[in-house]
Amino acid sequence: VKVVETIAELQALSRAWRAGGETVGFVPTMGALHEGHMSLVRAAQQRNARVIVSIFVNPTQFNDRGDFRNYPRDFDADLALLRPLDVDVVFHPNLDEMYPAGDAGMRVRPGPVAEPLEGEHRPGHFEGVATVVARLFNAALPDRAYFGQKDAQQVQVVRALVRDLGFPVEVVAWPTVREADGLAMSSRNQRLTIEQRQKAVALVHGLAVAQAAFSAGERDAMTLARQAAVAIDSFPGVAVEYVAIVQPDSFAGSTNAAVGDLLVLAVQLGDVRLIDNAVIGAGDLIRYRALQLQEA
Ligand code: PAF
Repeated sequence: VKVVETIAELQALSRAWRAGGETVGFVPTMGALHEGHMSLVRAAQQRNARVIVSIFVNPTQFNDRGDFRNYPRDFDADLALLRPLDVDVVFHPNLDEMYPAGDAGMRVRPGPVAEPLEGEHRPGHFEGVATVVARLFNAALPDRAYFGQKDAQQVQVVRALVRDLGFPVEVVAWPTVREADGLAMSSRNQRLTIEQRQKAVALVHGLAVAQAAFSAGERDAMTLARQAAVAIDSFPGVAVEYVAIVQPDSFAGSTNAAVGDLLVLAVQLGDVRLIDNAVIGAGDLIRYRALQLQEA
């Protein structure tokens, strides 16, 4: 794999490809790659002649210093995973390359979609995401960029960034990849102890309980969210941070849940914070629910 460390070199490559009529797909990551990232890379390869993967643990999107310090980093392992996929370039900039003016540099202030939920619980997080994604788009100059649906609110913040600042990039949201027991793949899963990992099934359990209640006719969003929270709280050591039902584009809260709304949640397992979501009325979690009932 070709590893590029400077924006100038990446721009030159991308410009040359595009001038030759080749499309460029871009998968931005913070490393600690897993099957979810691999599915983004494969999706990018299906529709683009060239694929760039970036690996940069972005300090400005961490509202918690400890979380930044403990974020898993293993560049060699990431490269080993990417090698068989034959991506064109891995962009691996250092801090000065991404933030030449340091703390004094300009930032992108995201709009209302960044305010609730993750925005409320992680002050400054989406400003950091919007800023780094803008810089990465200017570096990679992609036709399309791929983001995991697990970070559903991030996807909407990036869509707003593209719309409001006029980036000529198509944002593609790709379905969450799950472990056999339903846990959404996340780089942070690496930090769970064996015991916490077993309990992490609480997230998908909560989502599935609310889905089942919706299928049985419950429509009150607060009731559905409460049922999910109670289900999660039944796992000792798993603390609910929020559960909510929101409009999938604006992330405004729903009063009456409808098919297509988004059920979103965040929990804390020790010092590891995990998020997940599901589309209300979609049947994709039913098999995990069946699995858990079987085990209970
Ligand atoms: O989803 C992530 O890994 C990060 O938020 C992103 C999009 C790479 C920006 O740092």
